[in-house]
Amino acid sequence: MNTQPELLSLENLEVTFQRRRSDIVRAVKGISLTIAPGETLGLVGESGCGKTTLSRAILGLVPYRGSIRCKGEELDWKKQGKVLRQQMQLIFQDPYASLNPRFTVEQALEEPLKVHTALDRQARKQRVRESVSRVELPLHALGKYPHEFSGGQRQRVAIARALMLKPEFVIADEPVSALDISVQAHILNLLLDLKNEMNLTMLFISHDLSVVRHVADRVAVMQGGEIVEEGNCEQIMESPQHVYTRKLIDAVPRLDVALGKRS
Ligand SMILES: Nc1ncnc2c1ncn2[C@@H]1O[C@H](COP(=O)(O)OP(=O)(O)OP(=O)(O)O)[C@@H](O)[C@H]1O
Ligand SMILES: [Mg+2]
Repeated sequence: MNTQPELLSLENLEVTFQRRRSDIVRAVKGISLTIAPGETLGLVGESGCGKTTLSRAILGLVPYRGSIRCKGEELDWKKQGKVLRQQMQLIFQDPYASLNPRFTVEQALEEPLKVHTALDRQARKQRVRESVSRVELPLHALGKYPHEFSGGQRQRVAIARALMLKPEFVIADEPVSALDISVQAHILNLLLDLKNEMNLTMLFISHDLSVVRHVADRVAVMQGGEIVEEGNCEQIMESPQHVYTRKLIDAVPRLDVALGKRS
């Protein structure tokens, strides 16, 4: 009867941090958002507006008030942590933070399979080799450690790792912000291709609207812990309603050339 439920829906989400007794930071102030299955929602806003905090709440890493539902069911990280960790993955700005420096690429990619699947050793090795090729790294990368790669290559490893368990939902938190412009384009195109192939639903976070417009179907603009504007990319780019959105548009129209037109 009803249409398919949203993959993710946030209702009145609030996150507060108490730094000292009298110093309370309201990092997320009552945000409501939905993401449909297969959709990429871009979340854009300047540094400190609460983007990472919002994603940490979704992933059960900070306490929150309000509701977070996945396919209509309230998330419960305490009870369903193991399952949710397979379904929801995070790719973030600094792949060093997600990759263990003492693990080779092969070990890093095999680990989630060991923990979460019943695949035997041979099947695991096969999956690891496939995923390394899929992120366009040579097979000899398998024996290397994170510090032996360039930033772009390291981000490829982190992406491969996040996708090992074939999650349904991925949060990419500034996944290209630390990379050179030309490398940014390659990584973004790779993410787009993988998203389509694997039918991922994605929350793509960036402070840069020119990055977001290339990957997102819809954009939510965040300022000071609140969503101030929401709409499809073209709408937002062509007729922004909010002064703050206009400022973001004026700030960074430079990736377009490196990416080429992809629509
Ligand atoms: N663990 C914490 N304890 C106290 N305050 C925090 C904590 N984490 C974040 N904050 C504060 O919450 C606000 C939002 O921070 P957040 O990291 O979510 O912003 P952001 O939009 O991701 O910024 P950036 O673009 O720089 O990554 C900031 O004022 C930050 O100082
Ligand atoms: Mg952040």
